[in-house]
Amino acid sequence: MPDTVAISPRATLNSTPAATPADPAFSVLVTCGRGIVPFLREELAALRFPVKRELETGIEGQCSMADILRMNLVLRTANRVLLELCKRQVRDANALYSAVRDIPWERWIPEDGYFTIASHVSTPSIRDSRFANVKCKDAIADRFRTLTGRRPDSGNERCGVVVFLHWVNDLATLYIDTSGESLSRRGYRKIPMEAPMQEALASAVILATGWQGCGHFVNPMCGSGTLAIEAALQAQGRAPGLLRSQYGFLHLKNHDPLLWQKLRTEIRAVPKQKLAGRIIATDNRPEAVQAAIQNARTAGVEQLIEFQVCDFTETPIPPPEGVIILNPAYGERMGEITALEPVYKQIGDFFKQRCQGYRGFIFTGNLDLGKKTGLRSSRKVHFYNGSIECRLLGFELYAGSRRKCKQTPPQAE
Ligand SMILES: C[S@@+](CC[C@H](N)C(=O)[O-])C[C@H]1O[C@@H](n2cnc3c(N)ncnc32)[C@H](O)[C@@H]1O
Repeated sequence: MPDTVAISPRATLNSTPAATPADPAFSVLVTCGRGIVPFLREELAALRFPVKRELETGIEGQCSMADILRMNLVLRTANRVLLELCKRQVRDANALYSAVRDIPWERWIPEDGYFTIASHVSTPSIRDSRFANVKCKDAIADRFRTLTGRRPDSGNERCGVVVFLHWVNDLATLYIDTSGESLSRRGYRKIPMEAPMQEALASAVILATGWQGCGHFVNPMCGSGTLAIEAALQAQGRAPGLLRSQYGFLHLKNHDPLLWQKLRTEIRAVPKQKLAGRIIATDNRPEAVQAAIQNARTAGVEQLIEFQVCDFTETPIPPPEGVIILNPAYGERMGEITALEPVYKQIGDFFKQRCQGYRGFIFTGNLDLGKKTGLRSSRKVHFYNGSIECRLLGFELYAGSRRKCKQTPPQAE
């Protein structure tokens, strides 16, 4: 494909050259929810991802395309892996159009492919981010038409190449969203039930409890089972991305299916850890437990979790130790909150009377309700559930001295 069409130069004084698939390393932004960066940092450190900068909701670094595919497969706490194409000073919609048109899209998007534009726009020159999206779409389509006389289809479905525009004040950054859909959507939660926790958040919350597959993991009020399912996936060291078949990078022109296949085979072959404790999930609503069982089946961990329909106070607590975690409702309106006060008080009593030897945790969006347990929390970890500021409250419930957990060696299935 000729590179000599009359399109303005790739690099200008206030820009860097746009990335191309031939580059050996890409600037990458791995995004996550607020409060999750410390857990994502640990995951990226384990992958030896060279970190350049930490933001409130993501971590930037540089890596190869193979690393990008691996991150999409194995990261538990991330939302998206964004490949940076170009960063430009952009003052208005016309400047945006030019900046986008300068990017060599023909090297990324197949001519007969499909692309969609997503964006975060906060700039005085544009009121409606949809206008910015249309400008980007037009710029890409016009570049293709000029070059080849044809253009890829576009629309709102995230089923092809996903282009992400981040435009704040005068700085616009164009990315390819290699994940396409958020990585938090593992694909196992076919039946979500009431107020389900996002999968990536649940995974970070489990990491915050320090549970690593030793001792038991008990989750009363399990709802759709997200915490128990994520705990089972973590304990076995299963890559959550193996549950998904759809990713943005699969639709890139330069996608290497052999590399992808090799990576999946390699990760599948990693022996699964054997559980050193029991995972128990209960809820007082039979339909919630049914949904949780179905979701665990879809995730391939049904046989690792013991489900039961019961009031949380009747949940089996196997001795001698483990982690017990509840995510009770926290209400929005005053009446709901008042009605929940006795529930939190009961959770406190239950922890004191039945859960000795355990580390107890409550994930709540209402700190005042957390205080109704009557227990002094030894830890408070900040999280956000969407826009709601939440806390993971930790309680030491030890009866005696803490025993050392023996890690069982990995076993192939
Ligand atoms: C906020 S939801 C939990 C959501 C869950 N973390 C998920 O990801 O789906 C709270 C759950 O507590 C359950 N619940 C409320 N009161 C209960 C009780 N007394 N005993 C057991 N479960 C209860 C509800 O049925 C609901 O499924």
